[in-house]
Amino acid sequence: MTRIDPHSFADPTQGRTTHVDLDLEVDFQGKRLKGTALLHLKDSREGALVLDSRDLLVEGVRDGKGNELAWSAGKKDPILGSPLRVEIPKGTEKVEIRYATSPGATALQWLEPAQTAGGKAPYLFSQCQAIHARSMVPLQDTPAIRFSYSATVTVPEGLSAVMSAAPGEEGPGPRPGTRTFRFRMPQPIPSYLLALAVGSLASRDLGPRSRVYTEPEMLDAAAWEFEGVDAMLRTGEEIFGPYRWERFDFLVMPPSFPYGGMENPRLTFLTPTLLAGDRSLVNVLAHELAHSWTGNLVTNATMNDFWLNEGFTVWAERRILERLEGEEAAALAAAIGRNGLEEEMKRFGPDSPLTRLRTDLEGMDPDEVYSLVPYEKGFLFVALLEKTAGRDVFDRFVKDYIERFAFTSITTGDFEAFLEEKLPGLAAEVDARRWIHEPGLPGNAPTFPSKRLETVRDALAAWKEGKKPGRDIWEKWSSAERQLFLQGLSGKLPARECAWLEESFRLSESKNAEILAEWLTIAAASGFEPAFPAIRDFLGKVGRMKFLKPIYKALLGEERTRSLAKEIFRKHSGGYHPIAREGLERLVAGA
Ligand code: BES
Ligand code: ZN
Repeated sequence: MTRIDPHSFADPTQGRTTHVDLDLEVDFQGKRLKGTALLHLKDSREGALVLDSRDLLVEGVRDGKGNELAWSAGKKDPILGSPLRVEIPKGTEKVEIRYATSPGATALQWLEPAQTAGGKAPYLFSQCQAIHARSMVPLQDTPAIRFSYSATVTVPEGLSAVMSAAPGEEGPGPRPGTRTFRFRMPQPIPSYLLALAVGSLASRDLGPRSRVYTEPEMLDAAAWEFEGVDAMLRTGEEIFGPYRWERFDFLVMPPSFPYGGMENPRLTFLTPTLLAGDRSLVNVLAHELAHSWTGNLVTNATMNDFWLNEGFTVWAERRILERLEGEEAAALAAAIGRNGLEEEMKRFGPDSPLTRLRTDLEGMDPDEVYSLVPYEKGFLFVALLEKTAGRDVFDRFVKDYIERFAFTSITTGDFEAFLEEKLPGLAAEVDARRWIHEPGLPGNAPTFPSKRLETVRDALAAWKEGKKPGRDIWEKWSSAERQLFLQGLSGKLPARECAWLEESFRLSESKNAEILAEWLTIAAASGFEPAFPAIRDFLGKVGRMKFLKPIYKALLGEERTRSLAKEIFRKHSGGYHPIAREGLERLVAGA
């Protein structure tokens, strides 16, 4: 067997999937998807075809002509799931699997009506990255293989289905009380970009190529917050070249969505915690949009090359931000990122192999080792290349890179070779080998000077001397500056300082989730009881791991609040996404 990805049983020498036809019915009572996946194969070879699967109930497998094929499921690996081995005859072009997902499918969250904005209809959504697609569809679940797809999705009447694809016609379902939605995805994608959501949805056009979808109750707020999407899209094209996915629509999710955003092509998923009411968190939309070039066109071949997706995308996101909001705004965003990176470096230790850009994750669960390192160390490395080569030269390089590798999946080695080919000597000049293959943060990391950042630093220095910032300066600060200030206070504060912050700035009432979460983390670490109701409320409502993990960690880190953390987790874990639940369980168990 020639495996090419430590997180997949797929062996491309057995055949490669080029297209998938899905026909699925969504069963909210049984919490299952049930139906068929028809895989179209290229270069198939007689013998075993091994697919990835996790907790799927397979009923049977046929070839394209309706002949039943022998199949067997191998022992379940705790990280990879079960290899599904199908015996295929010579010349097999299609394999059809009849199956159902299990209620515990790691890609899927089934929400009760109470967990939605409307409170009346249930909701289902998927999150396939990194290796969860296999719990939704049996397939070769590696980003090294790309396929186009079509889908027929039957849902209870009154609900809508959306996918990372072009919507097609919608009509009555096979039985009374059902409705069927059709989709077609002509551009080939890696499996982790497969996505489905079902619920009570409304939508509004925001530009010729963009539409926002969300529950009707959130539509006005979402449309207002992200009104600038078309300007972003045009800016992205100016810097990175043509937009190759036709449309850039997005879906604002229920609050349990475990990430800030997910770049599902043609339908980005976004957390509702971005709805700050002042457009201060639109950088996440810029980030997911930027993946349309870096990540979705040029895709990491395995999770060992994840920095190619995220490092480039953070860099691209900040380039878009710089165009739209100016250099200062981009510098503040970089400073927030740098703080996050320093935290991660402390958590892992500077010699940890997990602080390399190119990692070796064999035997490791990508969810368990997820961190900001590929994002922010990756960003600094790309920014260093840009600074050293000069912006014009580097922008030309990036456009070439995207064009050359569009709709392919590449390794770090492929990137290094292309860099040397196009900009010979640059890698040596910046010591790229050290950046990519060694742990820690090299001393030549770029910095981003900013007047506004200086003001925040001054205020933090004054705080250490016992001088509090005035109300006026806080009022003048943007959300980013406020966030930087709170980040700089670091960890545990005496109760009277917490009380002062709360009274002066009404932090527990902040509409900006970044600021609120930063504050609640401080309050949790400090055991500041007046904020406990706000902490309970937040942990019971929001499922975004970026916020949950630090708050839980802070509570678990102190004897006095450990049982509170466990009590809150027991109460709400059923409402978290399976990926978040598992991550938090590890935290709680380790405390
Ligand atoms: N693709 C990621 C989310 C992801 C990564 C999900 C790995 C599962 C496994 C997405 O583009 C992302 O990076 N989201 C960030 C946004 C941020 C960096 C602006 C997030 O969710 O916070
Ligand atoms: Zn990303």
